[in-house]
Amino acid sequence: MRFRTIAAAIAGMLALAACSRSTARYDGPLYLNEDAPIEDRIEDALQRMTMKEKIDILHAQSKFSSKGVPRLGIPELWCTDGPHGIRAEVIWDKWRTAGWTNDSIVAYPALTCLASTWDRDLAALYGKSIGEEARYREKDVLLGPGLNIYRTPLNGRNFEYMGEDPFLAGEMAVPYIRNVQKNGVATCVKHFALNNEETGRMEVDVELSDRALYEIYLPAYKKAVTEGGSWSIMGAYNKFRGQHCCHNKTLLCDILRDEWGFDGAVITDWGGAHSTDEAALNGLDLEFGTGTNGLATNYDGYDNYYLALPYRDKLLSGELPMETLDTKVRNVLRLMMRTSMKTRKPLGSICSDEHYAAAKKIGEDGIVLLKNDASTLPIRLEECSNILVVGENAIKMMTVGGGSSSLKAQHEILPLEGIVERAGDAAKVTFARGYVGDPTGEYDGIVAKQDLAETRGEQELIDDAVALAKEADFTIFIGGLNKGENQDCEGGDRYGIELPYAQDALISALAQATQKLAVVFVSGNAVAMPWVDSVPAIVEAWYMGSEAGHSLASVLFGDACPSGKLPFTFPVRLEDCPAHALDPVFPHMDTARYVDDIYVGYRGYERSGVKPLFAFGHGLSYTTFAYSGVRADKSKVKNGGSVTISADITNTGKVAGAEIVQLYISDLESRLDRPAKELKGFDKVWLEPGQTKTVSITVSVDDLRYFDPEAHAWTVEPGEFEAHIAAASDDIRGSVRFSLQ
Ligand code: GLC
Repeated sequence: MRFRTIAAAIAGMLALAACSRSTARYDGPLYLNEDAPIEDRIEDALQRMTMKEKIDILHAQSKFSSKGVPRLGIPELWCTDGPHGIRAEVIWDKWRTAGWTNDSIVAYPALTCLASTWDRDLAALYGKSIGEEARYREKDVLLGPGLNIYRTPLNGRNFEYMGEDPFLAGEMAVPYIRNVQKNGVATCVKHFALNNEETGRMEVDVELSDRALYEIYLPAYKKAVTEGGSWSIMGAYNKFRGQHCCHNKTLLCDILRDEWGFDGAVITDWGGAHSTDEAALNGLDLEFGTGTNGLATNYDGYDNYYLALPYRDKLLSGELPMETLDTKVRNVLRLMMRTSMKTRKPLGSICSDEHYAAAKKIGEDGIVLLKNDASTLPIRLEECSNILVVGENAIKMMTVGGGSSSLKAQHEILPLEGIVERAGDAAKVTFARGYVGDPTGEYDGIVAKQDLAETRGEQELIDDAVALAKEADFTIFIGGLNKGENQDCEGGDRYGIELPYAQDALISALAQATQKLAVVFVSGNAVAMPWVDSVPAIVEAWYMGSEAGHSLASVLFGDACPSGKLPFTFPVRLEDCPAHALDPVFPHMDTARYVDDIYVGYRGYERSGVKPLFAFGHGLSYTTFAYSGVRADKSKVKNGGSVTISADITNTGKVAGAEIVQLYISDLESRLDRPAKELKGFDKVWLEPGQTKTVSITVSVDDLRYFDPEAHAWTVEPGEFEAHIAAASDDIRGSVRFSLQ
């Protein structure tokens, strides 16, 4: 009896389990089954879709969205700018903001600032934070980060990119990408590729060697795809070797797909498509913004898009192969299944304390202390009863303007506000305008809160500021550039590297009046500093977004110890820059020949021997660091192996701080000419006063290779190499040789 009872009980439990499993078993169509292999789901969706539905998901239906498949319950796909924060909602077919009241967000520091932290963990925090905001705003594709290389200081969009070195840019992009995408939001790394100037961006045709292409302009994108796993990539506006980048066979088929194995979707820049045939045959998947210039002109003839009816007609007539359609649809469906069709994903958040803390921290760690004679900084509040702040950029909103990265920030703590708040009752803070720059403050419907109207003339403004500086215990000049046209702004380039407006005259006059002076730049590009020898302290404070004033005050008053290092070189004169020394034409309106080749940035200055104003990787601290014991774990490296370079770093000063240790490698024996040295590693170490830590950076043999254009392959010859441990590209603290067998 007992046996039967037990058997019955077991049978009952099995039946219960089966039925519970059966209710949990997915019973919808395969393409919606999130537990099924994604490629099977794609094929299932593909064979259910009509030709019209397939064509419809390959191009925009509005300014920032493309169609889903309503009949199959496949959602629309929503894109959003930008790299520094989630753009305000715009009207369906317009560049104008829609006037929503729930789309104010956190403006994060510009990517030049993130790059200046040289901190992969902060890049991850950045990606997590902005990804959560994109997710909460229910966006599927974040149009960023920008990875174009900083080739010329005149490029209007340098502030959106991560500097002149492909290794630094790539290393900082990977954590950003991975942590955005953990939210079920795709990154769309841009602008692929060679979009290094703005004025002629829609038509300029870039010519350069394969070496320069593979060694300088592609590596950050390759890392973004192969290590970051970016789910989409944006074609650039310009041409490369005669073909628009948005449907460029070499870039999108031969390199991106065949060499890198990219399985994501290729999206145009807005208005970057120019040909149905090329779009069909050369790897474009999603067409946006056709008929516009990506900034202002509006066009809503979506059926006339190159991948819309003109494409359908050529498919039906047999002029274009039908398999090009399914290939594109697969790529777009794969992007959708990773984002808009994904139901199990975080819900995101906006304007949280964590996001503001992230913005503040990234700003603090990105600020670069360029010069600090006589320990002028930090400001010792106990010694000050009267602080003077001079300069328009102390009160100018910078989250507004600059092009597509413009934002509707929930708040923006301006430099002056941050300084006043930090000084509290300890010191009176006075403001002097000093100069008039760009008194406007509106971009696509978002208006700055400051009234920057001014009636005094240039000299009167200088005189007023100088008079106050003579009475102040400390003077902080806050100037630089702004997001106005032909400054740090999309769609145009700068006319020169001189500071605009009357800033040079003002700074020189202030330096005459007081040496308790710090010059602070709010900017995203290198500027000339003819007064550099007469100013004791200089700070590059970037565009830091919502928490700008808090981050800046924190560093100026010593709450945070600056640790940022420049991600690009500051030349003394524009003609010192390799891109301009070798090619006096700028901007390029038809063909741009990158005659500086692989010698971009520090690679070029070290080749020409021209000393820059401030070098790549330069940045001071409020403390000092000693380097010792630079060593390699082996003197002979086998092919396929690696070598670890170590150094002991000691904080020899009185305050705690972080030091970014850089590793450069010189190839002492190579068949082809190579740069004197190239960045191959970096690490950031936090040290209490007196503390010593060992930093070890491992370099694989693959990292030592150069691109051989004849063989069209990465290669490296046996021979001697030298590893340099450095505090900056022009500040080597120790070197050690090793040989490659
Ligand atoms: C703009 C920019 C691109 C932006 C896109 C949508 O023209 O080039 O970076 O994401 O169009 O605004």
